[in-house]
Amino acid sequence: MADLPPAIDDIRLLLAEALGQVAACSTAEALKAVESAVLAPQSTLAQHLRSIPKLLPELRGPVGREANEAKRALLAACQARLAALEAAREGDLALTEWVDPTLPGEQRGGGRLHPVTQVCRELEDIFLGLGFDVLDGPWVEDDWHNFGALNIPADHPARDMQDTFWLTDGRLLRTHTSPVQIRALESQTPPIRAVAIGRIFRHEELDATHENTFHQVEGLLVDRDVSAAHLVWVLRTVLHELFGREVETRLRPAYFPFVEPGFEMDMRFRGRWMEILGCGLVHPRVLAAGGADPEVWSGFAFGLGVDRIAMLRHGIDDIRHLMSGDLRFLRQMARGTEA
Ligand code: DAH
Repeated sequence: MADLPPAIDDIRLLLAEALGQVAACSTAEALKAVESAVLAPQSTLAQHLRSIPKLLPELRGPVGREANEAKRALLAACQARLAALEAAREGDLALTEWVDPTLPGEQRGGGRLHPVTQVCRELEDIFLGLGFDVLDGPWVEDDWHNFGALNIPADHPARDMQDTFWLTDGRLLRTHTSPVQIRALESQTPPIRAVAIGRIFRHEELDATHENTFHQVEGLLVDRDVSAAHLVWVLRTVLHELFGREVETRLRPAYFPFVEPGFEMDMRFRGRWMEILGCGLVHPRVLAAGGADPEVWSGFAFGLGVDRIAMLRHGIDDIRHLMSGDLRFLRQMARGTEA
């Protein structure tokens, strides 16, 4: 074999060395570095390529071919090595980060509305549908709004009907939602159609039917010539919507200082009469206390326990579950409503 021109020898050597480096590369970055070093403008290979035109004419062809072939071979080797590295990396991932799609997923329970909140929202919708405004009142009330204006003066025995949490400054935690009646009368001129839905507080000994925190819906309608017939129609309509069926009801006379006459409404539930709410025609003194002339205006009012409705609906036998914050109980309730 004729002696090779030194340039060709040089290029072959260089290529062999570069291919060795490529084979030793274990990362894409290292490969890139080898490739740029071999092809850089100052590299031996680049110098050979540039010197071709200056070579003897008979050498230009062979050296040119050799240099270009070396460049092509190097690029091809880099590409092949890169593909091999990637395949290996995927193989590693399959070993280290594999997932088993047949495993059951981790259950993340979503949040749900508390049974009492659900009933509150339903009642809100029902009353909005009947054209009532939904009002809010403060939990911390003064004596006047909670008692005095509702025709329960300081020495009145009716104060004993509701055990009160008194604050040291003479204010109290509202014992019912009825004070919102007074706030509505104070802030609006009749006709008024309003409900207040919210928390109330009683200084109670706790047992299965007594909580110190529960919820009421208060309703107030004030207009001209309001009668008990209007009251009964509204209440029956609300109960019908709430229970999803025609309900059998009856009124019994009852005493509440803020209404005259006053009633309790019973509803037939599972074959038994059950007391469901208090109501009546707004006492003239209450209208006057709120700034509405009782000679002109008349009205009805009612108060309904929300917790009781949630208990009936879910078959809950102990009111203390509701505010217990016990997630096991709440999850059970959620299941009940999904069904
Ligand atoms: N505020 C009463 C209570 O907590 C419930 C009530 C009865 C409200 C009669 C009324 C009503 O508006 O007319 O026991």
